[in-house]
Amino acid sequence: MLDRASTITVIQGAGHINDAYDQLRLLSMEGSFSCVFVAREISTGRDIVLKFFAADGQPERELAFERESRVLTSLADDTDHFVNLLQPHSIFTKTLSGGNVTLTVNIPFVALEWMKRGPCNIGNAPQSHVEALHRLAIFGSMCRAVRRAHHRGIVHRDVKPSNFLFKSRSTVKLADFGSAVIVDSTRGNYHSPPRGDLRYTAPEALLDIPWACDIVCGFDIYSLGCCLFELFTGQTLVAHSVFGDLRRFVRFGTDIVTTTRPDQRRKVYDTVLGREDPRVPSIRTINPDLPKCLYPRLETLLHAVAHFDYRYRERSFDQIHRLAQICQLVVSNEMKTQRRTHTRRARRQVTP
Ligand SMILES: Nc1ncnc2c1ncn2[C@@H]1O[C@H](COP(=O)(O)OP(=O)(O)O)[C@@H](O)[C@H]1O
Ligand SMILES: [Mg+2]
Repeated sequence: MLDRASTITVIQGAGHINDAYDQLRLLSMEGSFSCVFVAREISTGRDIVLKFFAADGQPERELAFERESRVLTSLADDTDHFVNLLQPHSIFTKTLSGGNVTLTVNIPFVALEWMKRGPCNIGNAPQSHVEALHRLAIFGSMCRAVRRAHHRGIVHRDVKPSNFLFKSRSTVKLADFGSAVIVDSTRGNYHSPPRGDLRYTAPEALLDIPWACDIVCGFDIYSLGCCLFELFTGQTLVAHSVFGDLRRFVRFGTDIVTTTRPDQRRKVYDTVLGREDPRVPSIRTINPDLPKCLYPRLETLLHAVAHFDYRYRERSFDQIHRLAQICQLVVSNEMKTQRRTHTRRARRQVTP
């Protein structure tokens, strides 16, 4: 198995991939277990994305890469909400020779539609009414995609801004299903160890114990809460949580895991949560420049989706959409009122 840098060198040095794709350009090395290229599909001439597996000697990650292809195949009929899979899990084989030595390398890859607008990493904090409405529209689109996945029995487990790709200015598709798990609410508990980016991981996922299906779905809802927080502050929620920073946040889980037997963990954790009552931080203190009318509604929405305590976290997408709609309404109503006042003032100035 090649290391990451060598995998990229081999791919860049290849004129084509299995006679099907050529003109490769490196798009992203952002992911921890893959490298992503834009390439031309020779048969159609269109540009597509090739995502290659690039995680040095990590067999469980290779299985996850295969799983991503299977999950995307099962979601292929919904091209509105999920990135479109063009070619399922395949192998690019390359023979390298140097002196008397020849080496054959096999690099797994998938082909995906190219989402030219890229990932949803919006760094800055919004200020105006228009910007706030734009962020709410993006958040609504994120929720719809995750809701669709849950509806199909798929919990993503790595929901974060960079795993949503912009479809239009305010709508996104969900991508990167390498950590996804297929669940069935009629079956028993799921053992779901933390998989994705820890900054967006629900605190209860750190306990490493089996959970009922609805609680595992709640992991994604917490991560959506992290996305909401980031969309409105430009900063990660974990950096502002009661746990202080990522180190303390992870230790909070690790301490319970190392000091408690699995069958007791949930009880100990619930007691800690009950005692400490960890609060979601206020968006107003971090970004005081949003329209004032939005804060109470936005904080209610954030509190519902990003609640640190899984027992109080909102689980109904209908309710999440309702809360988000209320946010949209207060902002757009205030905009209308401001416009009317502005027009009246302008008229008064014109009339002698
Ligand atoms: N279909 C695509 N279109 C455009 N950019 C993409 C596409 N797929 C992936 N990317 C880019 O590559 C990055 C890593 O891809 P991702 O699927 O998240 O892989 P990883 O599992 O390594 O995180 C994404 O954050 C995005 O910037
Ligand atoms: Mg990713």
